[in-house]
Amino acid sequence: MSIFGVLGFVLFGASVVAGSFSSPPAELYSALVAEKIRTTALVPPNPMQYPQYTDRTVGEWLYFSPDTWTTGFFPATLYAMYERAKYCHWEADNVSEWLTLGRQWGSAEIPLETNNTLQHDVGFVSYPFIAELEVDPGNQTAITAVNQFAADLAARFNPTVGCTRSWDTPNPVDFEVIMDNMMNLELFFVSEALTGNRTFVDMAISHANKTMQHHVRPDGSSFHVVEYNATSGDVIARFTAQGYSNSSTWSRGQAWGIYGFANSTAIDAPTVYMHTHIFDYLETSRHMASYFLAHLPDDGVVPWDFNAPLTPPRPADSSAAMVAANGLILLAQQEASLIPSNTTGYSYYIEAAVELLRANIELAWRPSWQSLLANGTVNNPEHNNLTGIVYGDYYFVKAGNELLNMNITAC
Ligand SMILES: *[C@@H]1O[C@H](CO)[C@@H](O)[C@H](O)[C@H]1NC(C)=O
Ligand SMILES: *[C@@H]1O[C@H](CO)[C@@H](O)[C@H](O)[C@H]1NC(C)=O
Ligand SMILES: *[C@@H]1O[C@H](CO)[C@@H](O)[C@H](O)[C@H]1NC(C)=O
Ligand SMILES: *[C@@H]1O[C@H](CO)[C@@H](O)[C@H](O)[C@H]1NC(C)=O
Ligand SMILES: *[C@@H]1O[C@H](CO)[C@@H](O)[C@H](O)[C@H]1NC(C)=O
Ligand SMILES: *[C@@H]1O[C@H](CO)[C@@H](O)[C@H](O)[C@H]1NC(C)=O
Ligand SMILES: *[C@@H]1O[C@H](CO)[C@@H](O)[C@H](O)[C@H]1NC(C)=O
Ligand SMILES: *[C@@H]1O[C@H](CO)[C@@H](O)[C@H](O)[C@H]1NC(C)=O
Ligand SMILES: *[C@@H]1O[C@H](CO)[C@@H](O)[C@H](O)[C@H]1NC(C)=O
Ligand SMILES: *[C@@H]1O[C@H](CO)[C@@H](O)[C@H](O)[C@H]1NC(C)=O
Ligand SMILES: *[C@@H]1O[C@H](CO)[C@@H](O)[C@H](O)[C@H]1NC(C)=O
Repeated sequence: MSIFGVLGFVLFGASVVAGSFSSPPAELYSALVAEKIRTTALVPPNPMQYPQYTDRTVGEWLYFSPDTWTTGFFPATLYAMYERAKYCHWEADNVSEWLTLGRQWGSAEIPLETNNTLQHDVGFVSYPFIAELEVDPGNQTAITAVNQFAADLAARFNPTVGCTRSWDTPNPVDFEVIMDNMMNLELFFVSEALTGNRTFVDMAISHANKTMQHHVRPDGSSFHVVEYNATSGDVIARFTAQGYSNSSTWSRGQAWGIYGFANSTAIDAPTVYMHTHIFDYLETSRHMASYFLAHLPDDGVVPWDFNAPLTPPRPADSSAAMVAANGLILLAQQEASLIPSNTTGYSYYIEAAVELLRANIELAWRPSWQSLLANGTVNNPEHNNLTGIVYGDYYFVKAGNELLNMNITAC
């Protein structure tokens, strides 16, 4: 195991950053990654269903109907492998096979445009279509899907509350917003870029503002759910759905926040006034990252909730680790994009991301399972812990790709 990684010269916007980092874990680029994903991809169920999580003992995928919040992740992973194939200069047929598989798996989601019960999760389900547009920006099917999903999300915006509604509730006055919803704002950014409709960006800014004010605690930790009064816009309650308690910090929610606020700094900023609150998003992402990193145990393994009791042993959540690693990489990129470039911040977050990947992949890498990783916790209050999870695997592949893209490592 080498102690020093490759020297990276990274160019973002106008700034050049150099640094040397610890080597990312070798599993990120193992031949098993492509082998396992391809094996799953070659046998799509008929009618189509999508892997979400595995059983707890042998790691076999459990499949769910297209109208489920997680179904975008497997096709998006196939597009990410297409990207990987290009970075790694794999053979041409192999490269095009990934794209074919991505398109094939994404196509059963097209009917969701006009018929779904996804609520705010249209954001996650749009990932394969957003990935398609990176390959073929003129693909009309993908353009229509993204814009239709964005319109669905926009229809969930309440101007009095200033947020898009995450979950529907029996009493419509109870307006519930979850931290996860920060991840769905990207759909607004992409649709605004396609249509020029600024309403999408205004909604995203408002949603991010409110989340910053009401979900994030002064110490940088976060509530999972904030319930607003849909009529007055007041906060009625703050609590948890998937975490340990109403006042705890659910690790995957914290990770969605690091990522979502770093991503929200990408909003195009035409005026000085806009720059001000975009800087607030950067600060919020930093603050949430700092809480996350400071509350890791000595072994670096991410617990499913930072406040869960230590006995009985608290299950890990490798998916929270993978989301947070991507959030830290994104945050590093934002630090590098500042003028002048924040090279200290850049190096700090890259190193933290690599260390987070190392500790959690060491725990969760399972060659014999169908998933890449084990030790994911879908929902501990519902006793669904210690499984493989499709979004854990997706963010594992994405982190590997980003480190290649940034020349921090090679295939
Ligand atoms: C990474 O290296 C490639 C090839 O040298 C170069 O084209 C690319 O701009 C580099 N990317 C970054 C982010 O520095
Ligand atoms: C366009 O995108 C859709 C949805 O992502 C995909 O199913 C289809 O295969 C793509 N079409 C072409 C011609 O590439
Ligand atoms: C909508 O999708 C559901 C399956 O998720 C299906 O049962 C139903 O028939 C569809 N409705 C329409 C109008 O296509
Ligand atoms: C922009 O998007 C919003 C939200 O979907 C919609 O209500 C509005 O009609 C759109 N504006 C235009 C000019 O299409
Ligand atoms: C919500 O706000 C309305 C208007 O201020 C008020 O009448 C109602 O009692 C509030 N409901 C709750 C549950 O706070
Ligand atoms: C958590 O908050 C919810 C919503 O306010 C409340 O119904 C529940 O009783 C709270 N749980 C505890 C243990 O305080
Ligand atoms: C936000 O995320 C998307 C995809 O994950 C990416 O295309 C976009 O560049 C991100 N924004 C920033 C600031 O990196
Ligand atoms: C967002 O918050 C900033 C302060 O951080 C404020 O200046 C701006 O008006 C807010 N925008 C919206 C749409 O709420
Ligand atoms: C990781 O998962 C294995 C089973 O796959 C389990 O035995 C172990 O306790 C888990 N460790 C943590 C920290 O969750
Ligand atoms: C650089 O990033 C670090 C980590 O986020 C932060 O503490 C520091 O204030 C940043 N420096 C500047 C000049 O923005
Ligand atoms: C993990 O899930 C199992 C059931 O699948 C449950 O019995 C156990 O209590 C959970 N672990 C913890 C520490 O909550």
